Amino acid sequence: MSGMDKGRILLSVTGFNPQRWYELLSASRTVTLEPDGPADPTITYAVVWKHRPNLLSSLPNLRAIFSIGAGVDHIFVDPDLPKAPVVRVVAENLTQYMTEFVVWRVLDHHRQGALYRSQQARKVWHEPPQRPASDIAVGIMGLGNLGRAAAQALRALGFHVNGWSRTAQQVEGVSTFHGDNGLTPFLNATDILVVLLPLTPATRGIVTYRLLRELRRRNGLGGAVLVNAGRGRLQLDADIHRALDDGTLKEASLDVFETEPLPESSPLWNHPKVFITPHAAATSDPNHLVKPMLEQMAAFERGEPLRNVVDMAAGY
Ligand code: NDP
Ligand code: OXD
Repeated sequence: MSGMDKGRILLSVTGFNPQRWYELLSASRTVTLEPDGPADPTITYAVVWKHRPNLLSSLPNLRAIFSIGAGVDHIFVDPDLPKAPVVRVVAENLTQYMTEFVVWRVLDHHRQGALYRSQQARKVWHEPPQRPASDIAVGIMGLGNLGRAAAQALRALGFHVNGWSRTAQQVEGVSTFHGDNGLTPFLNATDILVVLLPLTPATRGIVTYRLLRELRRRNGLGGAVLVNAGRGRLQLDADIHRALDDGTLKEASLDVFETEPLPESSPLWNHPKVFITPHAAATSDPNHLVKPMLEQMAAFERGEPLRNVVDMAAGY
């Protein structure tokens, strides 16, 4: 690919205003915002978030697809995806946001934030018993870029940390489990479950009522807790509701849902044991992400391999 002219970019985004992405990408290259009709056939790269299905297959010179997020499930829903490599976001800035989110939610559950908010609303002055972080095991489903970073931050706070992945992984100070055989032992040793998995055919709907029943409930938290910041379709919303109602779960922090935005009719909105954020755990900030994306394109054109390429067979 050496000697190639600066490749043109197609920017195709649904769900948010891509203006800043457009400005920053256009400072270095020719960028076309997604057209209603056929796309410019000279385009080399697509930068996408939930692009229009069948759009990319109309680009005969497409060499690579750049995801605007760490997750790539929004790309794989396209039934006519061309064979170009898919590059996902792996960036310090996004990892830091996710680490903050996980630490925030785990600490809030551990330090009984919901109880104090309800006491304050009733002007109640009462100090419940406190337990050290070392009494609590946080189990992270997904020990990738985001899961590992969150694990290290939680360890530094004194939590015991378990991790579950598809293949065997070693992470310093983390008790690791993997595969189908590792799932039950992982859950049985976990008080606060943090889901940071990608959405793939193998993980879709994995967070069921049955899975939540496997969590440990013997600790000072007064029950098991779920934090999902991965993808909504990893979970069954109705199963989470059931688990909260019958005490299988004490509380949940949910950033992602089966349907987004979460429909007004969802009973989760008003559930006193649920803390909701609108898929905001780790935002993709163009001010941090465009520069490395452009650097990757330039390196590719010099003949260097792309980094953070998705394994098409695994789906992440
Ligand atoms: P990575 O690809 O780096 O890591 C994925 C991890 O999940 C790996 O440890 C992998 O196992 C594990 N995994 C994948 N499939 C399975 C499976 N079938 N069984 C067990 N473990 C599995 O992803 P990131 O850490 O970068 O991101 C994780 C996800 O977080 C993204 O895919 C996205 O969905 C979500 N996300 C959500 C955001 C938000 O704002 N809510 C923001 C950013 C990301 P192995 O190590 O063996 O490969
Ligand atoms: C992502 C996301 O995948 O924001 O990066 O969900």
